[in-house]
Amino acid sequence: MVDITRDEYLEALERAGLTGHPGGIAGTRALIGRLGIRPGERVLDLGCGTGYTSCLMAREHRADVVAADLRPGMLAWARRRAEKERVTDAIRLVAADAHHLPFREWSFDAAVVESVLVFCDVPVALAELYRVLKPGGRLGCNELTVVGAEAREKMRRFTASFAIAPAVTTEDEWTAAFRAAGFTGVAADVRPIDWLDVSLLSPLRTDGLRKYLSVLLQSVTDPEFRKISRGKRAFLASGLLRHIRSGLYWASRP
Ligand SMILES: C[S@@+](CC[C@H](N)C(=O)[O-])C[C@H]1O[C@@H](n2cnc3c(N)ncnc32)[C@H](O)[C@@H]1O
Repeated sequence: MVDITRDEYLEALERAGLTGHPGGIAGTRALIGRLGIRPGERVLDLGCGTGYTSCLMAREHRADVVAADLRPGMLAWARRRAEKERVTDAIRLVAADAHHLPFREWSFDAAVVESVLVFCDVPVALAELYRVLKPGGRLGCNELTVVGAEAREKMRRFTASFAIAPAVTTEDEWTAAFRAAGFTGVAADVRPIDWLDVSLLSPLRTDGLRKYLSVLLQSVTDPEFRKISRGKRAFLASGLLRHIRSGLYWASRP
């Protein structure tokens, strides 16, 4: 049994400056591509992590980005990336909890949420996203998705002791959650995960070799990381891996 709380997990990610794009860079690009972001549009990147997606939207789509995250350390990583990519003028960094967003209603043309809802109370976070999107505003989410009812139950039992992703759920449950929050035009693209890409190739492209090696070192020296690694080994042994997909979801606020 491996017990690690959500806060411990997020804190370890923050210390390492490590965030994940389930589906890799290709998944992120597909998610944003379908949102059709136009220059000057105000876009929220909720749970921005180290800011890769925020910078991408500022650089390639010339969006006016608000990069929000619960953890101040993550925002510091995002700031460093924005400085390096010279897009600080187009990105505002905001400390924010998905459950109580510090924005007025109708603030955003679009919102991107990648690998964040799995850490949240999903109906509460979706109600907040609905509130801050303008009428006609578009939402794009990239969240781990379980295939099959049996795997879903096994996953729930597993995450009860390894509380990384208690909300990870099936495509039907995700789409029902978007509809229950009032979103319309809900669409999904659930893709197999290329684990080599997600765990090696995409991180090398988003953060470079030096960062990748430093995180690798941290994973053997940092006690919290060692705990996470034990959890990951237990996850591998559970056989659940083959039932996990990258779920891209799109919806609109009517
Ligand atoms: C797995 S990382 C993904 C980061 C980024 N979206 C990406 O794809 O690289 C999850 C991020 O969500 C943030 N997060 C978790 N719970 C949150 C909440 N309630 N409100 C805002 N951010 C949250 C974490 O601090 C972390 O940066």
